[in-house]
Amino acid sequence: MALLTGSNKIKTAVFISGTGSNLKSLIKFSKLKKSPIIIKMIVSNNSEAKGLQYANIYKIKKRVFDFKNSLSEKKIIDELKQNNINLICLAGFMKILSKNFIKSFKGQILNIHPSLLPKYKGLNTHEKAIKNKDKYSGCTVHYVSSKLDSGKIINQKKVRVNKFDTPKSLAKRILIQEHKLYPATIMKIFSL
Ligand code: GRF
Repeated sequence: MALLTGSNKIKTAVFISGTGSNLKSLIKFSKLKKSPIIIKMIVSNNSEAKGLQYANIYKIKKRVFDFKNSLSEKKIIDELKQNNINLICLAGFMKILSKNFIKSFKGQILNIHPSLLPKYKGLNTHEKAIKNKDKYSGCTVHYVSSKLDSGKIINQKKVRVNKFDTPKSLAKRILIQEHKLYPATIMKIFSL
């Protein structure tokens, strides 16, 4: 794909629930000339999410929705469509999106997950990798389907599990790789 500039960039929303370090890395990436995306909205189900600070810092529109029922969901879908959002990046977003939501953005929702999928879907991935004495864990970027952490895998990065790793130390090293993998995957998808 040719270099996308200004208003031709892919309008992206990032969904978060917590710290937002992946959001920060995506924002930084989006500011590069070579980036095919522009981040137009930050969406959270949690008004206390630390990552919402990046909306103020980088002057990006933020929205908080409870995602609890179909009415709240319709509001989100409408708002995303009104803002011409073509790509949704889930980044530490702890809600499961409904089938209807996923259908409304078919093939346009990505997620980053802290394991080498299909191993360890769901929570506590680092605990599981350590408990099972895996040599490697890592992270995965995949398309979102209606089954949790089961959509088509796009890209993965392996990270060695060390002998004395705790879930915390392993999570820290994997997170560093997540910050590289998500932008690299977006480059990969849109340069095909
Ligand atoms: C990341 O490890 C992500 O893969 C997982 O939750 C964590 C979120 O971290 N789903 P952050 O909010 O991006 O800092």
